[in-house]
Amino acid sequence: ALAPTALTTVATPALAEVTPSAPAARTFPQGFRWGSATASYQIEGAVNEDGRGPSIWDTFSHTPGKIKNGDTGDVADDHYHRYKDDVKLMKDLGLKTYRFSVAWPRVFPQGTGTPNPKGLDFYNRLVDELLAADIQPYCTLFHWDLPQALEDKGGWQSRDTSEAFANYAGYVAEHLSDRVKYFMTLNEMSSFVSGYASPRHAPGLTLPPAGVNQVRHHAVLAHGLGVQAIRAHAKAGTKVGLAENARAAVPVIETPEHIAAAAKAMRQINAGYLTVIMEGRYTDAYLAHAGADAPKFTDADMKAIGTPLDFIGLNIYTPTYVRADDSHAGFDLVPSPESYPHMMSPWLHVGPEALYWGPKLAAQLWNIKEIYITENGASSTDVLTPDGHVYDSDRVMYLRNYLTQLHRGVAEGVPVRGYFLWSLMDNFEWADGYAYRFGIHYVDFATQKRTPKMSAHFYREVIARNGLA
Ligand code: NOJ
Repeated sequence: ALAPTALTTVATPALAEVTPSAPAARTFPQGFRWGSATASYQIEGAVNEDGRGPSIWDTFSHTPGKIKNGDTGDVADDHYHRYKDDVKLMKDLGLKTYRFSVAWPRVFPQGTGTPNPKGLDFYNRLVDELLAADIQPYCTLFHWDLPQALEDKGGWQSRDTSEAFANYAGYVAEHLSDRVKYFMTLNEMSSFVSGYASPRHAPGLTLPPAGVNQVRHHAVLAHGLGVQAIRAHAKAGTKVGLAENARAAVPVIETPEHIAAAAKAMRQINAGYLTVIMEGRYTDAYLAHAGADAPKFTDADMKAIGTPLDFIGLNIYTPTYVRADDSHAGFDLVPSPESYPHMMSPWLHVGPEALYWGPKLAAQLWNIKEIYITENGASSTDVLTPDGHVYDSDRVMYLRNYLTQLHRGVAEGVPVRGYFLWSLMDNFEWADGYAYRFGIHYVDFATQKRTPKMSAHFYREVIARNGLA
């Protein structure tokens, strides 16, 4: 350190001398699609209106002890009635795109059979409202609200559910594709498959490994059959993909050997989901590991599952750190110490590089040309202060760092075309109910008042500047 006298004797350099160079403007390519995402059961409410049938999440959330504080999605954000106001919130942010999901049990209350026209009407109105606001709709066909009637017949344990999904997906695409150009089949397969392996998610079954592997197979099969049905029924020019929470492998240190290990890991740790969809076959390692519990499948299944896609959506929140090792697999997953920083949700480890390495490795491994970050965001212990503000500086920190890493990839040519922030507003966070807030708008669930948080102001600036600087 300088002695105090030195401070007074050394002339102060001009600012330009101490600032090495102006930071490069972290601008995204023109036309980058800034969006936000939600899902039907988490925001709509109106569960008994206009002929909607029950879903497994209605049943699950009404089962005592399943959801924090006994919360349910009965009212949620009341978006079903307030969608026009919510589109105004989007407009105020300057969103270019919005990702929503269709509730299968609104459109087919029994899962199959006769469609309920009033169910689809809601999405027709929503899509029209979005287009009038110049916001491009991205539609997810399944975000976990499986019709209860199908669960009663085995749910995802039955391949009939995969076929029923395709039928429903084709129907929705046929009716919305004159205005919706992007469809995603399933959201986060591993999350809803987990509802058959552990009690945290609906339907809350704990099947043995063979059963879970079969459920997983039916999920990827539903995706594949869904893609084919959408292509058969949608208007020309419709793009089809999925929204998958592929685990994002991140080299723990950016050296060539750890990077190579991360690429290997990315393929192996996603073997049951994205890998089989991109490659049209289960990896040898996946089948060997499953052994006698491997799923039953046909060649026709595999062909459907591997149907080429127009784009890939990645939901990325956390990193999976990988290091090189000389084991047979060539990589090792690095365990997290207890002190690893996380957001309010304990699983939400902060690792901004996930948004660089996840899409980059996926694009390299499978030669993907169009990627969207279909979800990224953070839960925080938001408090609405008496002066009407929510100072979620932790969420702003999270977003700024993740977007910086996203920019790093895009600047290198990783083909990410858009980003959907989870979420537009606080909503029903599944087993965590309303206690865990992910929104950039604060929702007072007693009055349904929406208040932009500091993160909403941050995101509006990002969109206006098309970047971070
Ligand atoms: C992933 C899911 O798709 C979404 O429904 C959920 O709310 C967020 N992650 C946050 O957990």
